[in-house]
Amino acid sequence: MKRYEALANSIADGIRSGQIPIGSRLPSLRQIIAQRGVSQSTVFRAYYLLEEWGLIRAEERAGYFVTPGAAVKQVPSHHDMPLADSTKVDISDLVFSVLDAAKHPNVVPLGSAFPSPLLFPSARLLKSLTRGTRALSPWSTVVDLPPGNDHLRRQIALRYVATGVSIPPEEIVVTNGALEALNLCLMAVTRPGDVVAVESPGFYAALQAIERLDLRAVEIPVHPVTGLDLDALAAALDKHPIRACWFMTNFQNPTGVTLSDEKKKSLVDMLAARDVPLIEDDVYQELHFSRDRPLPAKAFDGNGLVMHCSSFSKTLAPGYRIGWTSAGRFADRVQRLKLMTTLSASTPAQAGIADYLEHGGFDRHLRKLHAAMQTQRAAMEAALRRYLPREVRWVTPSGGYFLWLQLPDAVDAMALHRLAIGRGISIAPGPIFSAKHAFQNCVRINFGHPWSVKIDGAIRALAEILEDPAVHASI
Ligand SMILES: Cc1ncc(COP(=O)(O)O)c(C=O)c1O
Repeated sequence: MKRYEALANSIADGIRSGQIPIGSRLPSLRQIIAQRGVSQSTVFRAYYLLEEWGLIRAEERAGYFVTPGAAVKQVPSHHDMPLADSTKVDISDLVFSVLDAAKHPNVVPLGSAFPSPLLFPSARLLKSLTRGTRALSPWSTVVDLPPGNDHLRRQIALRYVATGVSIPPEEIVVTNGALEALNLCLMAVTRPGDVVAVESPGFYAALQAIERLDLRAVEIPVHPVTGLDLDALAAALDKHPIRACWFMTNFQNPTGVTLSDEKKKSLVDMLAARDVPLIEDDVYQELHFSRDRPLPAKAFDGNGLVMHCSSFSKTLAPGYRIGWTSAGRFADRVQRLKLMTTLSASTPAQAGIADYLEHGGFDRHLRKLHAAMQTQRAAMEAALRRYLPREVRWVTPSGGYFLWLQLPDAVDAMALHRLAIGRGISIAPGPIFSAKHAFQNCVRINFGHPWSVKIDGAIRALAEILEDPAVHASI
């Protein structure tokens, strides 16, 4: 273990054992250098790591403080929990009832899965759409059939290169958003009745895809600080004939947690040893708040078993519906499925995004977006601290735009959702993130919208609703 990791671990132990209480200020750089005899860069890196784990938060000119997330309860690990049987999934009605209720534009979109469209460079993108479309040949509807527009696939491959991952453009299949990429990948590697490992809590669309394709799910616990429980996954792989995994390695939806590179590598190695494909949902990768973009698990894949899926929906243009998969050894199969299902992604949208990636200043836009998200995260956390009961816990994510709140045990998030909708506020209740409708006292809220009086009022209203006896489950 490196020195800064040892230092971070020893501070983390102090925080978790309660020796360093929530809200307290960590020693200054100077104090810790003197106490531990380490260098300034070791302390910096250790604090940076603790921040990444969601245990501490920097406050400008005041130092580092222990976050409320440090007290988030451990999810039961497979040691405490008998390894569950695979489950036939029945989630869609629940998910649709929640999503439908939140559709109205006047509803405060704390339950939404999208950031505010106002944060996207729509005028600049329109210019690229015009330029890109003008440059298209009449034959483009034929030439741009799957795997997709050449220019776009080269630009996507260049973005991989920027993170140090080499993906040949030939491996990339352009799709209608990441959701289609994920669904096609799942179809490419499973047949009805197969068992698929998913995260718990995890993105509800994975459960819906499993339900639609008549598959079965095995849920693998995700801890909000450390992420996917690899021991539980190993035990599940031993017990069940798992045909594929569908996981998020960066800024997981809903917890926001990112796996360390070591864990990503272990995950890839574990699956490679059993020849199990990994469908990697990485739609939030570009929304990182630290300097460097986190690596995907795909970076550690030497066997073509990782099918990396992403899109421009969360960073640039949700309505264009342009996503892709870099599907390794399954690329041909995915390409055929794409042709058989929806034929092609929109030709003008592909050309427009390709032009934008080359000429539009995507990285500059992303830097602005990251700054806006961090400001909004700070405002949201401040409002949560101001209005919600002290027992509400969360881990500060280092990217994406979700906070996963653990409310007091007795709270029924579905009842909270119903009462909140009545007051024009959407939230995403915990049970939609699990095949077993678990996480009854959790909610996911979105900080992807510019801070406003309306959002502040919505958090205050949630605090009032939490006092209503109707949201307390009879336990
Ligand atoms: C985790 C996750 N994966 C995939 C998607 C779908 O992305 P797209 O809009 O590109 O289809 C979403 C959107 O909500 C998401 O949150």
